[in-house]
Amino acid sequence: MKKIIVLNGPNLNLLGQREPAQYGSHTLQDVQVLCETKASELGYALEFLQSNHEGELIEVIHRAGRECKAGETLGVVFNAGAYTHTSVALHDAIVGAEVPTIEIHISNVHAREAFRHHSYLSPVAAGIVVGFGVKGYGLAMEGLVEKFAG
Ligand code: DQA
Repeated sequence: MKKIIVLNGPNLNLLGQREPAQYGSHTLQDVQVLCETKASELGYALEFLQSNHEGELIEVIHRAGRECKAGETLGVVFNAGAYTHTSVALHDAIVGAEVPTIEIHISNVHAREAFRHHSYLSPVAAGIVVGFGVKGYGLAMEGLVEKFAG
């Protein structure tokens, strides 16, 4: 069965205890369950990952690119956390590995501090889901399938 990768960046392991006014009370484990349910509804397997390390996120994107070319993976739903606003390297990884990527943010980053308004990922993302809370992960997975399922 073809797979969707849901990739989470720094500090998302703290969901549930971290700034609940911004991110709600669901934990990353809850998000994983939500994504597993959505993946099986859509007819895909799920790989769900989190890392606080930029290099590890880059390695996952590179691997995803190889798996997409092999027809094993459809693409990546990516919440890069704060690296969204800083990482040219993640931008380059998405371009270099040619991975269909949907960018997702739990909070509405455009209604927050100015430094969150710019994303290095948006210009190379196939779509963006912002501000729908953790339900956005499911919406992003639907969008990935809508755009890229053969
Ligand atoms: C976030 C928004 C980012 O600005 C922030 O650094 C995060 C989470 C979100 O999901 O709303 O870590 O990506």
